[in-house]
Amino acid sequence: MKKIIIAIDGFSSCGKSTLAKQLAQKLNYIFVDSGSMYRAITLFFLRNHIDWNKPKEVQKALSEIHLDFEYINEEKQSHILLNDENVDVLIRDMLVSENVSAVAAIKEVRDFAVAQQQLMGKKKQIVMDGRDIGTTVFPNAALKIFVTADIAVRVERRFKEMLAKNNIVTIEEIQNNLEMRDYIDSNREISPLRQAPDAIVLDNSLLTKEEQLALVLGWAKEKIEG
Ligand code: CDP
Repeated sequence: MKKIIIAIDGFSSCGKSTLAKQLAQKLNYIFVDSGSMYRAITLFFLRNHIDWNKPKEVQKALSEIHLDFEYINEEKQSHILLNDENVDVLIRDMLVSENVSAVAAIKEVRDFAVAQQQLMGKKKQIVMDGRDIGTTVFPNAALKIFVTADIAVRVERRFKEMLAKNNIVTIEEIQNNLEMRDYIDSNREISPLRQAPDAIVLDNSLLTKEEQLALVLGWAKEKIEG
């Protein structure tokens, strides 16, 4: 059995993390949601009134940030810790979503996050989802998947997710946020959101979670056993 790295990239709210999490559970691999790291950094910047247009201020702030993932066995879930505080819920706040793409476009921020992501992949057996995992973080990943879905489907999924968490937002706010993030993420200078040339495209607009998992599990097993 080969130990591999699986990179899952794609647009905002197209179900990458759900897929990556389920896949990692099936394979007994580590799951890392790289977006949660950019969200946690953004939360720190907002809380501490960091002016992220000033590189020195950004560097200093990053030196005060420690990110960790804590795996809880009973829950079969990992939680993101920002300086030892569980910020799972706070990083999904709309204010964070409105600012995260600007923060994630900053060179110092990307260098900081990518270095940690690459360390986590040293032993392979990892599924990581994000925007630049197959292009920049793990360009040699054995399996790369680029996920897309219709914008209407993505908006509806995120709306339901927010409602379930008692977050009051309108459909319009969500649509604007997803479109704005996709635009900034695709057009930034450093590691823009791109499909890696060797990535398999997965349009999951019409697939259930179970169907997409079965499909991707098949691709993963081919690589691991092949
Ligand atoms: O809302 P969704 O779950 O789709 O996004 P996310 O995965 O939580 O990522 C939030 C934001 O972080 C993205 O819109 C990007 O700006 C940034 N990001 C990035 O630049 N690179 C990554 N590898 C992952 C996320």
